[in-house]
Formats: sequence, C-alpha cells, structure tokens
Amino acid sequence: MAVDTAHQHRGHGRRLLTAVAALARASGELVMWADARESAVGFYVACGARVSGEPYVDDGSGLIVRHVVFTIS
Ligand SMILES: CC(C)(COP(=O)(O)OP(=O)(O)OC[C@H]1O[C@@H](n2cnc3c(N)ncnc32)[C@H](O)[C@@H]1OP(=O)(O)O)[C@@H](O)C(=O)NCCC(=O)NCCS
Repeated sequence: MAVDTAHQHRGHGRRLLTAVAALARASGELVMWADARESAVGFYVACGARVSGEPYVDDGSGLIVRHVVFTIS
C-alpha cells in the first residue's frame, strides 16, 4: 500500500487500514498480516500491528521486510 507523498502524514494510511480491517472483520477473519518494508514498520505498529519474526530479504522486490500482524477484534 502507499499514500501519495503529497498527502502523507494526514491519517489516510490509518483510515485505509481501518477500512480493510472492517471488511476483514465482516468476513469473519481473525488476523491480517503483511510484509512491511523496514521504513514502514513504525507505521503499521502505530496502527496496531505487532512485528513477528526477523527481517528478511523479499525475493520479488529485494527489499528488507518484516511480517506485521494485526489481530482483528
Ligand atoms: C507508510 C505510509 C502508507 C503511511 O501512510 P500515511 O497516510 O502517511 O500514514 P498516517 O498519516 O495514516 O499515519 C498513521 C500513524 O503512523 C505513523 N507513521 C506514518 N508513517 C510512518 C513511518 N514511515 N514510520 C513510523 N511511523 C509512521 C504516523 O505518525 C501516525 O502515527 P500517530 O497517529 O500515532 O501520530 C506512507 O508513508 C507511504 O505510502 N509510504 C511510502 C510507501 C510505503 O512505504 N508503503 C508501505 C509498504 S510496506
């Protein structure tokens, strides 16, 4: 996911994640997860995720990423 650089830090990313979580909750899901690039891990944590496991290099992008996990309540 990404927010246009001109519109970052205004809460759009958080609102998008909240909307995705609401859809997942409505579908009966209990957990959401993502592979977050290192520079964005703090964003996911600020939005309620926990970090799981060690950083690793993603095959497709070559980026160092970490699993971030949301428990849907
Ligand atoms: C990461 C990204 C999606 C965040 O979107 P955003 O709309 O700027 O984020 P929000 O304004 O909703 O921020 C929500 C919270 O996360 C925090 N935050 C945002 N970006 C952060 C970052 N890179 N690192 C740490 N914390 C961050 C904000 O301070 C805010 O915390 P607060 O509510 O406690 O003050 C956006 O910066 C982006 O598109 N980055 C480039 C692409 C990218 O890295 N995507 C993620 C790929 S895994």
